[in-house]
Amino acid sequence: MSDTAKITVKGETYELPLITGTENETAIDISALRAKTGLITLDTGFKNTGSTKSAITFLNGEKGILRYRGYPIEQLAQKADFLEVAYLLIHGELPSAEQMDNFSGSITKHTLIHEDMKRFYEAFPPNAHPMGTLSSMLSSLSTFYPESQNPDRTEKDVELTIHRLIAKITTLAALSFKSGKGHPYIYPDNSLNYVENFLYMMFAVPSEDYELDPVVTDALNKLLILHADHEQNCSTSTVRIVGSSKANLYSSIAAGVSALWGPLHGGANQAVIEMLERMIREGGDMQKWIDKAKDKNDPFRLMGFGHRVYKNFDPRATIIKKSCDDVLEKLGVDDPALDMAKELEAIALKDDYFVERGLYPNVDFYSGIIYRAIGIPTEMFTVLFAIGRLPGWIAQWKEMVANKEPIGRPRQVYVGAQARDYVDFDKR
Ligand code: SDX
Repeated sequence: MSDTAKITVKGETYELPLITGTENETAIDISALRAKTGLITLDTGFKNTGSTKSAITFLNGEKGILRYRGYPIEQLAQKADFLEVAYLLIHGELPSAEQMDNFSGSITKHTLIHEDMKRFYEAFPPNAHPMGTLSSMLSSLSTFYPESQNPDRTEKDVELTIHRLIAKITTLAALSFKSGKGHPYIYPDNSLNYVENFLYMMFAVPSEDYELDPVVTDALNKLLILHADHEQNCSTSTVRIVGSSKANLYSSIAAGVSALWGPLHGGANQAVIEMLERMIREGGDMQKWIDKAKDKNDPFRLMGFGHRVYKNFDPRATIIKKSCDDVLEKLGVDDPALDMAKELEAIALKDDYFVERGLYPNVDFYSGIIYRAIGIPTEMFTVLFAIGRLPGWIAQWKEMVANKEPIGRPRQVYVGAQARDYVDFDKR
């Protein structure tokens, strides 16, 4: 196959190089297009546009394949620890036992936040959404560690910032939960592992023993792994483009949290549960909701359904659906929302509208069922998504910096008013 693409514009033919990745995906490299032809491309929403070359995550939407640094998500979810996967994403290889000890040991050491940061929570309104507080607090970390703002930071500085971020995101998340309820804060317990410590800070109460349930810690470990990275999605692209201006890592991650919050993206896990609860409240007429979702004049969307890339099935949804039954059974939880979700999926997947458009359950469709079963409040679901996605965002930011990628600055096609002169008030 020729390694160039030819385009002919107004009688002139131009050749553009083709680039093929390690999984045989092929792209037209248009980096010289404007210089060669004076033309740009237009692709609103970047549905057909690659923003970078990346070695971190490979996914195939047609075959439902998802691999982190070449390792299938199914194996990592089954066998690995979340911090082990974080190391893999960030450093490119599975850690040795010694590397794992050093990585998790350093993260454990950085779980505390500056005592002055607790005062911020006293200023947030009691019903502050935890994604709003998380984004604010992550960005404010850059003010407590001003050396992180140095654009010429060393490898060592970046490593320290990475460990601080992974360590403190769970502390900040638990603090927003406790402060929202007006409950006393629980300080990290360094004898616990990452997931156990998060659950401890979330649910322990002073003067009572907190008993960790292995079913819950295993389920949360798996969910965090399944959310850890997903190539150039909306929030990851946000982290990359903010970082491309040489903004510090804390601010780049805070921007990613804000992008993830949207209900079309990570905010969908909260929207799914709210949708299922509404369906139950209003009598559970599934066909009514399916018809609303298909009606172009109705803004209602089937939350947790559809995906920009997966047009067959989201492999993460398959794994999470399976663990729903397992976790709820082990915890003795009977959640009508799970039955409703399964019924909705069954009806939708027999409906041509969904099948023709490749609309299947995505990662957010079942995850909220498990979060709820392990006691996570609905408004914290997307915070859990952010905790899981943090290592992926970090890995992608590091790759962008290591590859010395230019500042992201897309072009546009201008469709506004042409040149015109100013008109005084009395002549308007
Ligand atoms: C995540 O990109 C990632 O990797 C994201 C993510 C990650 O790990 O980072 O996987 C996490 O964000 C998962 C997606 C969570 N969002 C939702 O569940 C919200 C509901 N789904 C959608 O709104 C929608 O499916 C998107 C946003 C996920 C994808 O939208 P696209 O790719 O822009 O597709 P589209 O809106 O152009 O839809 C194509 C067609 C349209 O119909 P037609 O115009 O062709 O007639 O499908 C329809 C849409 O109306 N459609 C839906 C639908 N999703 C798409 N119709 C009803 N219900 C839906 N959920």
